[in-house]
Amino acid sequence: MKIMVTGGAGFIGSHVVDKYIAEGHKVTVVDNLFTGEEQNINPSAKFYLMDIRSNLLEEVFKIEKPEIVNHHAAQISVPASVEDPLFDAGVNILGLLNLLQYSVKYMVKKIIFISSGGAIYGEADVFPTPEDYPLRPSSPYAISKLISEYYLNFYKKQYGIDFTVLRYANIYGPRQVPHGEAGVVSIFIEKLLKGESPTIYFHDGEPDGMTRDYCYVEDVVKANLFALEKGSGEIFNIGTGKGTLTKELYRNILNLIRVSGYAKEAIYDEPHRGPARPGDIKKSCIDIKKAQNLLGWKPEHNLLSGLENTLKWFLAKHSTE
Ligand SMILES: NC(=O)c1ccc[n+]([C@@H]2O[C@H](COP(=O)([O-])OP(=O)(O)OC[C@H]3O[C@@H](n4cnc5c(N)ncnc54)[C@H](O)[C@@H]3O)[C@@H](O)[C@H]2O)c1
Repeated sequence: MKIMVTGGAGFIGSHVVDKYIAEGHKVTVVDNLFTGEEQNINPSAKFYLMDIRSNLLEEVFKIEKPEIVNHHAAQISVPASVEDPLFDAGVNILGLLNLLQYSVKYMVKKIIFISSGGAIYGEADVFPTPEDYPLRPSSPYAISKLISEYYLNFYKKQYGIDFTVLRYANIYGPRQVPHGEAGVVSIFIEKLLKGESPTIYFHDGEPDGMTRDYCYVEDVVKANLFALEKGSGEIFNIGTGKGTLTKELYRNILNLIRVSGYAKEAIYDEPHRGPARPGDIKKSCIDIKKAQNLLGWKPEHNLLSGLENTLKWFLAKHSTE
């Protein structure tokens, strides 16, 4: 199949590209390298250094004629979306519309859209949270993902373009960038390997801190593979269905680093505490039964095996730096 992956130089998108290529698909990557890195791009993919909002994108559709558009490119930061909702909406909503318009014109069959199961339900009170739970997005980022889902419905009804939405939990793994505020696993690993103490954020009156559903990137990639053929017009949570407290995550990572022998003297048992950032929700953990039943997908890694693989990758990176 001919597949365009937007955001294919980024953390998750680049793993999806690798898998599609390994499965024999012809892949085009569109990425402006805003947060992505050229070294992540599979050499067998055709790369266009381009913004998804650009008119030049039409040329890429004309030349490459993708049958599927897998849309990973996005402004991904919740705090940044609170600070600058116009920028967030520009990339996440107008960027999607630009892609959809060319997808109609150049007869794309299906869009695989990446939404957020960690943000779109807001502060839920049912855990794990299923797809049909009332949506209460509590940040511009989450709103832009929800509006995107509405647009996909519209384009399917109006123009017959199929879609599958994958609402990701908190994804972690090799290539996740440890700076900024996204990617707590990579931030903790990098800090601890440097002998620095990371910060764990807490909401007022929540002494145990936040809970997240951590899913290993290799598992997520498989969902993108299955979505090529299945899940027509459907929305799926992609996570593990298990919640982990941030401080539990920290302990697990700290233990693995100690076992690896790379622990620095200065590693603290007690990380710094900080106040929750704008848009941070307290608890998120998503129900994955629908993906199990309709996509035939389930995660194969548990938290420990995923963290072990991730740490291995960071250690290898450190040894070559
Ligand atoms: N990482 C997670 O836990 C998580 C959770 C839920 C949803 N998601 C979604 O998964 C997708 C990928 O996220 P990621 O964690 O790999 O982040 P990432 O920042 O590594 O990837 C995003 C990619 O999009 C590119 N990009 C950004 N703006 C662009 C633009 N205007 N034009 C072209 N390319 C642009 C970036 O350069 C980058 O390569 C995003 O849609 C994100 O919202 C991620």
